[in-house]
Amino acid sequence: MIEVKNISKKFIIKSNIVQALDNISLKIEESDCFAIVGESGSGKTTLANIILGIYNQDNGEVWLEDSLLSSNRSLNLRKLIQFVQQNPMSTLNPKKTIYNTISLPLKIHKIVSNDKISDRVEKLLSYVGLDAEFMHRYPDTLSGGQKQRVAIARALASEPKVLILDEPTSALDVIVQSKVLNLLLNIKNKFNLTYIFITHDLSVVKNIANRVLVMNKGKIDEFGKTMEVFSRPKSDYTKTLIRAIPTVTDEEDEIKPK
Ligand SMILES: Nc1ncnc2c1ncn2[C@@H]1O[C@H](COP(=O)(O)OP(=O)(O)OP(=O)(O)O)[C@@H](O)[C@H]1O
Ligand SMILES: [Mg+2]
Repeated sequence: MIEVKNISKKFIIKSNIVQALDNISLKIEESDCFAIVGESGSGKTTLANIILGIYNQDNGEVWLEDSLLSSNRSLNLRKLIQFVQQNPMSTLNPKKTIYNTISLPLKIHKIVSNDKISDRVEKLLSYVGLDAEFMHRYPDTLSGGQKQRVAIARALASEPKVLILDEPTSALDVIVQSKVLNLLLNIKNKFNLTYIFITHDLSVVKNIANRVLVMNKGKIDEFGKTMEVFSRPKSDYTKTLIRAIPTVTDEEDEIKPK
């Protein structure tokens, strides 16, 4: 579905070079929940930004099915991959009502005719468990979890095939986290979406991802089926990450590398 071929990206700040991505290649299959993990600064968000076309890569190609994706891609291609970020406060415009926020992609991508926009916004809110009355509100009147639900509804508006979720629950408290995670899983099934799920939280990966990619300093440290990577991690780096997961049961402790 998505193929990343030999992607490299460096940032240069005042003659200081950071190789954020160093020759990354991977394939994401349709309906995958593809997790990307790795320490802070390992290049996860940079990779997301390149797949989304927000950044230009220095080398390499990104393909979505038969289309080569560049950073100035057509609207038709842009609508297919959408983004949900960590902090809904900084991604929702505080001056716009929820209605305006969600209707914008409907208009840009001409998803429904103008007289149907209000109905569609209501429908999108219902998918994320919010009443129609939320349409008239501004972001600062919403809780963190509600804001993230709005961000998810906005991402769904253009009828994408792929959602890139960059730490979508880490700004939320634990109970809200699990509700939003469940919502994301339901939505994935309902719309047959493919997820690229970036997270620090390996217990989340274990619960929801079928494949996991471990990044370390801009390179791929390890890649495979989640259960295989967790039960037989190859690299020292992955072993260290897995050892750092808090466990609650002996069974969970059993599969940790010693
Ligand atoms: N716009 C930018 N300008 C300069 N350097 C950047 C930029 N974006 C990222 N970097 C650098 O590239 C490297 C990878 O950053 P990236 O944001 O991709 O990491 P990450 O894995 O998403 O980290 P985190 O888990 O903290 O979000 C870091 O060293 C970062 O400082
Ligand atoms: Mg990041």
